[in-house]
Amino acid sequence: MIQTVAAPKPLSPAKAAARPLYAELADSLQNLIEQGTLRPGHRVPSVRTMSRQRDVSIATVLQAYTVLENRGYLEARPQSGYYVRPRPPSLAPEPRMAKAMAKPSYVGVNDLTTEVMEYALNQNYVPFGSACPHHSLFPNKKLARIIGSVARRDPTLIGRAGMNWGYEPLTREIARRYLQAGVPIPHDELVVTDGCTEALNLCLRAVTKPGDTVAIETPAYFGFLEIIQSLNLRALEIPTSSREGVCLDELRDAIEQNDVKAVMIMPSFHNPLGSLMPDEKKQRLYNLLCEYDLPVIEDDIYADTHFGDVRPKPLKAWDRDGRVMLCSSFGKTLAPGLHVGWTAPGRYLERVRRLKFTNTMGTTVLLQKALAEFLRDGGYDHHLRSLRRAYHQHLHLFLQGMQKHFPEGTRYSRPQGGNFIWVELPARVDTLRLRRDALKHNINTAPGVLFSVKDRYRNCLRMSCSLPWSDEIEAALRTLGELIKQQL
Ligand SMILES: Cc1ncc(COP(=O)(O)O)c(C=O)c1O
Repeated sequence: MIQTVAAPKPLSPAKAAARPLYAELADSLQNLIEQGTLRPGHRVPSVRTMSRQRDVSIATVLQAYTVLENRGYLEARPQSGYYVRPRPPSLAPEPRMAKAMAKPSYVGVNDLTTEVMEYALNQNYVPFGSACPHHSLFPNKKLARIIGSVARRDPTLIGRAGMNWGYEPLTREIARRYLQAGVPIPHDELVVTDGCTEALNLCLRAVTKPGDTVAIETPAYFGFLEIIQSLNLRALEIPTSSREGVCLDELRDAIEQNDVKAVMIMPSFHNPLGSLMPDEKKQRLYNLLCEYDLPVIEDDIYADTHFGDVRPKPLKAWDRDGRVMLCSSFGKTLAPGLHVGWTAPGRYLERVRRLKFTNTMGTTVLLQKALAEFLRDGGYDHHLRSLRRAYHQHLHLFLQGMQKHFPEGTRYSRPQGGNFIWVELPARVDTLRLRRDALKHNINTAPGVLFSVKDRYRNCLRMSCSLPWSDEIEAALRTLGELIKQQL
C-alpha cells in the first residue's frame, strides 16, 4: 500500500537561504567528514566540548548531531558519544551506457522542453527539472552595486549603441583565468556572447549548413538538441559513459560510417550525466578529430564547479590547429540573469564574429564592464570556492535522499562537479507519467525522453540538485519516490 502523498508547500527560497545555526554546524562537520579530516570510527567532540568550541548552545549541538545521524554520517554509541559512521559498504550502481544510433536523425520539435523550462520559472514548483542554479548561490547584491556604480560613472553606456566583439578588460580577465587553468587563449581571440547558448549557436552555424550531421553525446543536453533542430541539422548520438564521457571507439565508428561535419561535446561535467573525461582521453579525442579533420564545439560551462582541487582542463588545452571552439558563460558560476557568455572559436574566429554581428551586434557593454570589475576585484575566487562547496554538498544530500526514498535497483551517476544526477529507474517506470503525477504535487521534473532524438531513456530522470537542502526538498523526494513505487 502506498502512503498518502502530501502536496509540498510552495518553496520559500528566502527561508532556505537563511541557515539556522544547527544546520550550519551540521554542514561544517559534514564537510570535515567528506574531506576525510574526520574519518570513519573517529569520535567527534562531546556535545559539551563542541558547544564551548563553537560558542553555541548544547541544544544546537545536539540538534546538529541528530541531523548528521539522520543523514547517515554519525552514530551515537551509548555512554561513549558520537562517532563517524563507516561508509556504506556498497554504493548504488551507475547508469548503463546507451546503444549507438545506426544513422543520424533530424530533431523533432519538442513542446515538452519548453514546458519543463516554463515550470522551472514558476516558484510554486520544486525545480528538480531545472538547470538554473538557485539564486541564493550568487553574489547578487554585490553585482547589483557594481552595475549601478558603472552606470552612474558612465551613463552614456546606456545611450550609446555599440557593436563589439567583447569589452577588452573582460576578455582579458577571461583569458587570464584560462591561463591559470593551463590554456593560453589570447584575449582578442575571444568573442563575448549573450550566454553560452548564443556561443554554441554561432559556433555550430560557423561550421555547418542545413542538412549536415553533428555528432553529440547521448544522453544529450536538450539545449543542444534545440539548437540542432533550429538549424535544420541532423544529430548522431554517440554512447557516453556517466563516468568518463563519450566512448571514443563508438565515435570513431560513427565518423567512419557517416558524413559527420562537426562534433559537439561537453567533456567536463556533462549535462545531464555529470561525466568528466580524463586528460589522457581528451588527448585521444583531439587526435581522433585531427585524424578526420573535424571541428569540435566544446561546452565548458560547468568546468569551474569541480569538487576536486583542480579545475579540469578544457579540450581546448590540447588544440594545436584551432579546430576546438570553446564555449562557456557565467550562467552556472556567477550571474545566470546577466546572460553573458563567450567563445574562443580558434580558426573560425572571423566567421563567428560576422555571425555575432548579424545575430545581436554586440553584448551589452554595461554588463560586460560590471563583470570585468567583479572579476578583477570582487572576490570571484572566494565566491567560486563557496559555490563549489555548496554544489558538492547539495549533490551529496540529494544522492542520499534519493537512495533513501527511491526503489532498490535505481542507478545514479556520481558527478565530480556540476549540479545534476542522472537517474536510471527500474525499467518499468515511465518518467513521462511520473512527470504528470509529480506536477499534481507541485514538483517539476525533467524526464529522460527530453535528452535524445529517439524515444529512449523512458525510465530515466535528470535531477537538478542546485537547491539548498530543506525539509521541503526531502518531502518532495519522498513524494517522488512514492509516485515511482506506485508504478512498480
Ligand atoms: C550544458 C549547458 N550549456 C549551456 C547552457 C546555457 O547557458 P546560458 O544560460 O549561458 O546560455 C546550459 C544551461 O542550462 C547548459 O546546461
